[in-house]
Amino acid sequence: FNIRRMEPKDLIDIQKCNQYNLPENYPMTFWLYSVVTWPEASFLAEDSRRKIVGYVLASVEQAEDNDSTWVGHINSLGVLRSYRRLGLAKRLMTLSKDSMMDAYPLQYIQLQVRTSNRAALSLYRDALGYTVYSVDHRYYADGEDAFSMRLWINGVP
Ligand code: ACO
Repeated sequence: FNIRRMEPKDLIDIQKCNQYNLPENYPMTFWLYSVVTWPEASFLAEDSRRKIVGYVLASVEQAEDNDSTWVGHINSLGVLRSYRRLGLAKRLMTLSKDSMMDAYPLQYIQLQVRTSNRAALSLYRDALGYTVYSVDHRYYADGEDAFSMRLWINGVP
């Protein structure tokens, strides 16, 4: 598999990949805005025939309550079903983290995940070192709660 930065030309295929993988979908304007604004943050995985089989969409913001704190956000992560458990999500997440850290003085990376999503929770907690920071009640459109998780870059403050 080839892993490379996401570019605007990839977005139609990425949006399809997102729709296969997750009920949380975003308008094309959001994908495009993210890739143009934070070109170093988002990555995709493609097979030898250039079929996109996974992606991570990320962004970087200053924390609302403290504008000297830089935060990476993982907005969407997905790997097509028949390509799972091959280490692709871990590689995508690690590349995105390293690349965001090269470009911004990040304090932590944050994401939300459904409390029932065992595969993603295991990836974030066991494989990548994220910890649960809070529970966001009824975060999703269907009423499910989210775990808000963080990966602290230089240890918990
Ligand atoms: N069960 C238990 N642990 C798992 C599972 C699983 N199904 N999947 C991954 N893990 C853990 C394991 O520790 C695994 O290491 P191992 O295979 O050596 O045991 C480690 O994570 C790395 O797994 P990867 O192979 O890198 O993960 P994969 O490429 O399969 O992708 C993902 C994981 C993205 C969660 C995939 O299952 C998927 O696309 N699911 C549907 C979409 C989704 O839930 N996305 C995340 C939503 S949250 C968000 O977008 C911010």
